[in-house]
Amino acid sequence: MTGKKVPPYLFIIVGGTGDLARRKLLPAIFRLWEKNLSEFYLIGSGSGKKHNDQTYRDFIARSLEEEGVDTSHIDSLDWLYYQSVGTGSLEEFKILADRVQELEKKLNLTGNRVFYLAVPPSVFPNTIKNIGEVGLNKSGGETKLVVEKPFGRDLQSAQELNRLVHTYFNESQVYRIDHYLGKETVQNLLAFRFSNAMFESLWSRDRIERVEITVAETLGLEHRAGYYDKVGALRDMIQNHLTQLMTLVAMEVPTAIEADAVRYEKVKVLRAVSPILAGDVVRGQYTRGAVEGREVIGYCEEEGINCSDSRTETYAAVKLNISNWRWQGVPFLLRTGKRLFKEATEIAITFRRPPVSIFKQFSIKDIQPNRLVITLQPDEGFDLYFKVKEPAESYKLSTQSLHFEYSELFGRLPDAYETLLLDILKGDQTLFVRADEVEASWELYTPLLSNHQDVYKYASGTWGPVEAERLLEGEKWYTV
Ligand code: BG6
Repeated sequence: MTGKKVPPYLFIIVGGTGDLARRKLLPAIFRLWEKNLSEFYLIGSGSGKKHNDQTYRDFIARSLEEEGVDTSHIDSLDWLYYQSVGTGSLEEFKILADRVQELEKKLNLTGNRVFYLAVPPSVFPNTIKNIGEVGLNKSGGETKLVVEKPFGRDLQSAQELNRLVHTYFNESQVYRIDHYLGKETVQNLLAFRFSNAMFESLWSRDRIERVEITVAETLGLEHRAGYYDKVGALRDMIQNHLTQLMTLVAMEVPTAIEADAVRYEKVKVLRAVSPILAGDVVRGQYTRGAVEGREVIGYCEEEGINCSDSRTETYAAVKLNISNWRWQGVPFLLRTGKRLFKEATEIAITFRRPPVSIFKQFSIKDIQPNRLVITLQPDEGFDLYFKVKEPAESYKLSTQSLHFEYSELFGRLPDAYETLLLDILKGDQTLFVRADEVEASWELYTPLLSNHQDVYKYASGTWGPVEAERLLEGEKWYTV
């Protein structure tokens, strides 16, 4: 032990020169390293043969700068190493295994290892198998496996991947990442719900009319055609990020904020969701338009997309019914899309209206419902909307809000990856997706994936296809 909060670890990032490693993992790892919580070392492992330890350190230093990380005070990145795994053959993983052992000996490490798979999903199986076959999963310390999303393409592939993972690792060693769970505001959902008895007493079908979860992006494909065109919004966002948010909103009170207690409640929610009807899903694909005043091209025109046969959805909206005592009859509406009107991730909880209006003589027939809006990004905070009487002779009601914004009180929030990486080192699995959870989620969406439904076009810079309105049966989607 080093006297630090977390024992020493060797991180092995497979995909160590890729976009995820460069843009997200290394900046987060660097910030953790700066906080001096743990002594750790890292081997970046990529397919390229051109790097050695020194050129990899230079490459990472440049990447950190590009990502706006202040590196002016670093003397050296001598805790970073590079080892190629070339084409990913067993032979090359044997060489990686030798390097790991050599470094552990040289650095006097006890064998605590984290394998982070920052590679395309198609490479997950081969990488996991090779790590296991060369015996890297066994050491004198703790060995952990981190797998990025999407975990599988459907139920069957997720089950197969789980079986493969469990051939070499116990579930307690596996960290399936959904980076949304690392966002401070997402974690705060638990604190908000379970430390404010006032809201918890309103949190059911008795008081809530509907729940809308929106993740709207203004970005388009961003040169990810190779990945995205085979995936689409249902697999890329709904099955994981939005469904995770839904489970946190809908779950029962766990016995403690502890990995199995929380994940058990989330799985119960997933199992209570009724099969999704084809009519409760709307898909869309963006066409040309203007986003935030800038002209943008349509999905079909993006580099790498074959317009004549791409039916990939860049927008998806789904209506879910959670068939349990708390939520029966309350629609949970999930929607996400690229090239939408504005960047916004929010959960809007609409409460039931007053049963009758006593203000009819003032021409107020319909009183708008109270609403709680939890903004997860960009301006993290809450708004609770309620009615007030405007000062005047007769009754005129207007909507006002109680507003709370994180940045005003707490300043910079930690990046999701920073939180998740630290949890991995500490061995806390609460914010990671369990095997049965990922399968329960795929079970919900898999029947929809082979369904050749219409993909409606929507102009970039709008809120998506108008057809999505039908899911609300006469109401309108909440937008600020
Ligand atoms: C990723 C998706 O998981 O999440 C991307 O693959 C998406 O398509 C991204 O853009 C959104 O994450 P965030 O944190 O920017 O909301």
